[in-house]
Amino acid sequence: MTPPTEDSPAAMNGTTPLGDPTGEVLADPIAELRDVHKAFGPEPVLGGVNLAFQRGEITVILGPSGTGKSVLLKHIVGLIKPDHGEVYFDGERVDRMREAELVAIRKRIGYMFQLGALFDSMTVGQNVAFPLIEHTDQDPAQRRASVQHVLDLVGLGDMLEKMPTELSGGQQRRVALARAVVLHPALVLYDEPTTGLDPVRADVINELILALAKTMGVSSIVVTHDMASANKVADRMILLHEGRVICDGRPEQFRASDNAVVQRFIHGEADEADLAAIRRAFRNESANPTLFEQPEARA
Ligand SMILES: Nc1ncnc2c1ncn2[C@@H]1O[C@H](COP(=O)(O)OP(=O)(O)O)[C@@H](O)[C@H]1O
Ligand SMILES: [Mg+2]
Repeated sequence: MTPPTEDSPAAMNGTTPLGDPTGEVLADPIAELRDVHKAFGPEPVLGGVNLAFQRGEITVILGPSGTGKSVLLKHIVGLIKPDHGEVYFDGERVDRMREAELVAIRKRIGYMFQLGALFDSMTVGQNVAFPLIEHTDQDPAQRRASVQHVLDLVGLGDMLEKMPTELSGGQQRRVALARAVVLHPALVLYDEPTTGLDPVRADVINELILALAKTMGVSSIVVTHDMASANKVADRMILLHEGRVICDGRPEQFRASDNAVVQRFIHGEADEADLAAIRRAFRNESANPTLFEQPEARA
């Protein structure tokens, strides 16, 4: 197979039907999963994931809750090891690394955890300084300058002394974002960065993700189920479903997919099995009301 060019990723060149993984061959991916399998119980969470992430791009991984998106991200930083398969970051095999080697890897990967996950007992400044204390020998003055710099970037330059609980949800996410990039990582992993935010605050986060990627050349992986966010930031979209990649392509290819699961996800529609179950339950309820009293029953 000839390697795809920028304009003709594999999904478009006819070798792989749209709706399947592109099989796109990347010469020098920033991160890669090869045939990754992971289970915590009898049911597999990841059932053979193959993905290579292009340097400098924003790759958005979409998928319903509980489908293994966070588990996938944790493989890249070695927080979770695969049962089978290989994981690479910047050409290095992560899944076989010892803890000391992983520390060096994590220094080069920013991780914005689901819900931000700030330390509540630390000030905003201390939260952002935390990776610097862990991973660098910067003195307090240098640290303060680094912290100030990234908090200025996210528009919270005057919030260093505040406690996280004094901030709005959107501001807390911005602090988490600042903390994720304070070490100038090559790759940033964003786990549901906009979930729970109103659309305006969510868009501030989208703009920051874009600005970091486009102005600083940071490679980014954004896990989300927020289609508006995906449409705004993605260079490439991937749908994870039941532990597998079922669609992978440029946003316009993704949106044009004829895969029913992809379309339901894009449009936020319940699937046939769920709809049938709801109809059945409400038919029973109207035939034999228990939840809502019927008007005639009151008389
Ligand atoms: N450390 C763990 N131990 C056991 N089960 C886990 C662990 N992490 C995740 N899971 C399970 O794996 C599945 C996928 O989880 P997750 O990746 O968090 O989903 P999501 O796509 O919502 O991020 C869920 O069923 C979750 O309960
Ligand atoms: Mg998750």
